[in-house]
Amino acid sequence: MKAIILSGGKGTRLRPLTYTGAKQLVPVANKPILWYGIEAIAAAGITEIGIIISPETGDEVKAKTGNGDRFGAKITYILQDQPAGLAHAVKIAQPFLGDAPFVMYLGDNLVQSDLNLFLENFKAKNLDALTLLCPVSNPSAFGVAKVDAEGRVLQLVEKPKNPPSNLALVGIYLFSNIIHNAISCIKPSARGELEITDAIQYLIDQKSKVEAYKLEGWWLDTGKKDDLLEANRIILDTCLVSSVLGEVDEQSSVIGRVQIGSGTKIVNCTIRGPVTIGNNCHLENCFVGPYSSVADQVTLIDADLEHSVILQGAKVEGIHQRIVDSVIGQRAHLKVAPKRPTALRFLIGDDCQIELCN
Ligand code: DAU
Repeated sequence: MKAIILSGGKGTRLRPLTYTGAKQLVPVANKPILWYGIEAIAAAGITEIGIIISPETGDEVKAKTGNGDRFGAKITYILQDQPAGLAHAVKIAQPFLGDAPFVMYLGDNLVQSDLNLFLENFKAKNLDALTLLCPVSNPSAFGVAKVDAEGRVLQLVEKPKNPPSNLALVGIYLFSNIIHNAISCIKPSARGELEITDAIQYLIDQKSKVEAYKLEGWWLDTGKKDDLLEANRIILDTCLVSSVLGEVDEQSSVIGRVQIGSGTKIVNCTIRGPVTIGNNCHLENCFVGPYSSVADQVTLIDADLEHSVILQGAKVEGIHQRIVDSVIGQRAHLKVAPKRPTALRFLIGDDCQIELCN
């Protein structure tokens, strides 16, 4: 068994964060989203992993993720010259995959379940395709499946206006090598992409063995800001282990599960977990509340925040109104003058969202 992880594409829904980087490298609880997928695959005993990368962000993904040693896996990078669809990514990965059955994992998805559960089913039933489904309130935003009582998939449609059910396709699929033939028989969709849903539908029409498994536990597609905050909340809630490597002065209090990285200084702050703070940060006169992730090299002075994600190198100063539900990008700088400001001075990048609310 091999695996491919799709880490190409454009990441338009996470702009502006993805103007300067890959969406799969945006951190959740201070770890790139992509790495959760690699870890899940390696934990299921699959060590040959191909990662699909794009010309725009591929070098960054490679540099950050490496050759797989840190995950106990061997990673091969496969360049997709344009985001021509999920099935197109499988097509260009065929030389890597050979005739092996494989897991296809979308690099922006996070799931709670253990992959072994699905692998065992796939192998025991000798399936050609196993898809994972999860009920959602907005099926039109996903691939949607209609299944019979035995879990057999009857129909799959990509982002339908009139969804046949509320069962969304989760971004984890298991395939036998028969999928390569199906992909060679489909045509690009109306949006110009080779769709994996069409390839699976082809298998269904050919009476191949396609089944669906309902996912237990949470699943997150980290496409948008609120999904990212929710992923951050769930991972901090379920996975964070306390550890304090940096310096915390006597005026500070650290309550609940909190991780503080090395080289970080906490001066006169209250940190109420679950919170993770990276390496080499400086926090002074701050309140950092539950479900916040602060990346490396962040400076927070006279600032209060909760349920927020602050990316690497950002600086926030003089904001004691509580910053909530916010994502602050790499190296962004937010500063409010010590006295009540009489003017607001901005340099705001494209697609940014600023909300000053009561
Ligand atoms: O998240 C689940 C959904 O993922 C499924 O319900 C849909 O059926 C499936 O089509 C997919 O929809 P998305 O609109 O979320 O796909 P997105 O374009 O975000 O791409 C998913 C991942 O694959 C992302 O990490 C980028 C990568 N990708 C995407 C394309 C189109 C590639 O590596 N190459 C590509 O050509």
